[in-house]
Amino acid sequence: MNVFEELTQIQAEFQKDLKLALDLEQLDHLKIKYIGRSGVVTTLLRSISSVKKEDRPKFGSKANQLKSEISGLIAEKIDVFKNDTDLRKAENLDVTLPGRTPVIGSLHPTTQIVQEICDIFVSLGFSVIEGPEIEFDKYNFEMLNIPKGHPARDMWSTMWIENPNHSNTNSTLLRTHTSPMQARFMEATSPPIRIVVPGKCYRYEATDSTHEWHFYQIEGLVVDKGINFANLKGTLYEFAKRIFGNDRKVRFRCDYFPFVEPGVDMSISNFKDSEGKRPIKGRDEDWIEILGAGMVHPEVLKGVGYDPDIYTGFAFGMGPERISMLRDGIDDIRHFYSNDLRFLSQFV
Ligand code: DAH
Repeated sequence: MNVFEELTQIQAEFQKDLKLALDLEQLDHLKIKYIGRSGVVTTLLRSISSVKKEDRPKFGSKANQLKSEISGLIAEKIDVFKNDTDLRKAENLDVTLPGRTPVIGSLHPTTQIVQEICDIFVSLGFSVIEGPEIEFDKYNFEMLNIPKGHPARDMWSTMWIENPNHSNTNSTLLRTHTSPMQARFMEATSPPIRIVVPGKCYRYEATDSTHEWHFYQIEGLVVDKGINFANLKGTLYEFAKRIFGNDRKVRFRCDYFPFVEPGVDMSISNFKDSEGKRPIKGRDEDWIEILGAGMVHPEVLKGVGYDPDIYTGFAFGMGPERISMLRDGIDDIRHFYSNDLRFLSQFV
């Protein structure tokens, strides 16, 4: 057999081998077998010196042609196999497996409790309004019957924005409560008034598990002819039952806030059940205070131009985070501001 016949035979053999190659590994072996360093074509080419001189150019070109043909065919089949493997991988996809649940966000727990409380008052006929967090001394104190130099100012450790001597009523501060909206709203409108005012408040205070230097409050104000203390009690009792459950009792006790007279605080019952367990986790008292309230002080009504002999009203203020803490068993108010997902995800 001469070298040309040998080339033809190699080509035929390769065609057979190529058909039989079933995966990438076998194709790799074929490459080595035919065109590797000691592959059959390579070896044959190396024996060119034993070919007759006049046949050498023809043989050289034929052998090189075969080499590149083999290399091309192998590369083509490698491509086919690679795509095929991807396909086979796709076929291995088990579409019956449960999907991965995407993580979805939710409203912040503070927003949730604020909305829940506001919704209750809306269902009782109140409107929801908001006011500025940067407030004038005039609304935060003065018009709430807390003039300059009044010792009651100490009830609200204040973060002043300017004029730290707080020498005039235009001094600005971060509101220490939502009560200034009572004065602002009454000044801008006339009775009947039935509003709740949710919003952020600030105090110059150290933090601990029950105090934050920033927190939410929800203020309430009702003013009309003939509003009396029974209206206050009825409204707030209804609210307490909707948040804490129908079987809870409320208790009102005298308290002092300069802008109401009489002023009260309201507590909800936390009595032991037959097994000795209390409804509010971690609290061992029979009564727990949840808000401050009272009949709007005649001085406050006069200050906004209302005649206290015609109009009367009641007001209340509460901390929604504290209410959520009591009802939902949260032991530290700072959780609300720590952005810890372990806490936040309980409220999804
Ligand atoms: N503003 C008071 C506080 O921050 C809470 C409060 C008490 C509001 C009695 C009221 C009220 O409207 O009548 O401590």
